Amino acid sequence: MARIGFLGTGEIASVMVRTIAADGHKITVSQRSEAVSAALAQAHPGLQRADNQAVLDNSDIVVLCLLADRAREVLSGLSFRPDQTVISVMARMSVAELAGLCAPATDICVAIPLPPMPLGGTPLAAFPDNARLREIFGPHAQIHPCRSEQDIAAHFAATGVLLPLLDQIDVAAGWLAGFTGDHAGAASYLAGLIGGYCELLTGKDAPGLSELRAGLGTEGGLNQTLSKALKDAGTHEALKDGLDGLRPGLGLPA
Ligand SMILES: NC(=O)c1ccc[n+]([C@@H]2O[C@H](COP(=O)([O-])OP(=O)(O)OC[C@H]3O[C@@H](n4cnc5c(N)ncnc54)[C@H](OP(=O)(O)O)[C@@H]3O)[C@@H](O)[C@H]2O)c1
Repeated sequence: MARIGFLGTGEIASVMVRTIAADGHKITVSQRSEAVSAALAQAHPGLQRADNQAVLDNSDIVVLCLLADRAREVLSGLSFRPDQTVISVMARMSVAELAGLCAPATDICVAIPLPPMPLGGTPLAAFPDNARLREIFGPHAQIHPCRSEQDIAAHFAATGVLLPLLDQIDVAAGWLAGFTGDHAGAASYLAGLIGGYCELLTGKDAPGLSELRAGLGTEGGLNQTLSKALKDAGTHEALKDGLDGLRPGLGLPA
């Protein structure tokens, strides 16, 4: 059992708390974010709410779930301990900057949880790899260690594909619903198909991406025809350009 504190109780803190809530840890969350913290306390008996310094004082592992600009204001007014582990899930804040703001704590890592985490087995990118992160979240996620500060910043950028992918499901579901009249059913059908391919790709003895693409890419077939139409319309270049557009905000080289 660990004593774990969450600073900033918004969407992602709520996801992380729900992931580990049944593991018997002593969890304290920022009282701020009244609606979310109150709902968590009601859903998980034993979970404590406290002001930010009390969250730190009651925790051996502190998970930083604030927006980075707010964290710069908030953290400088708080006292950390040298024995604490700090796990930051914040985009746009490096380990070096965290080390300054969270001193004298030195066991610091950055991780990228995402909302499907409570389902179990989703990737959790982290830099540097951290024993306490593995201990707490390893049973629930596939820890994906990054090799450098730059790598984890690029992984943050890569998570930006999620909404565009959901957008594509939405557009295709709208098209399909033009025939069926059932947008939700169409979205569920497409998500189930895509989910099946994602499971094939990430499962045990997974075929490679190129093998799966080849299987779908019969010359003149439906998938190959639509894929070519999108590529010819510039969607691949637009995706790469869009990812490049995220570089400056994440401190990645141009
Ligand atoms: N959402 C995701 O899927 C996701 C995934 C990976 C990483 N992240 C990172 O996680 C961080 C938080 O994102 P989020 O989506 O969870 O944002 P969010 O829902 O807006 O949560 C941030 C929370 O911080 C609270 N807060 C603001 N000032 C505070 C203070 N002085 N003391 C304590 N709490 C304070 C806010 O409370 P009030 O509501 O009271 O203002 C808010 O609930 C960001 O840095 C983001 O990059 C998010």
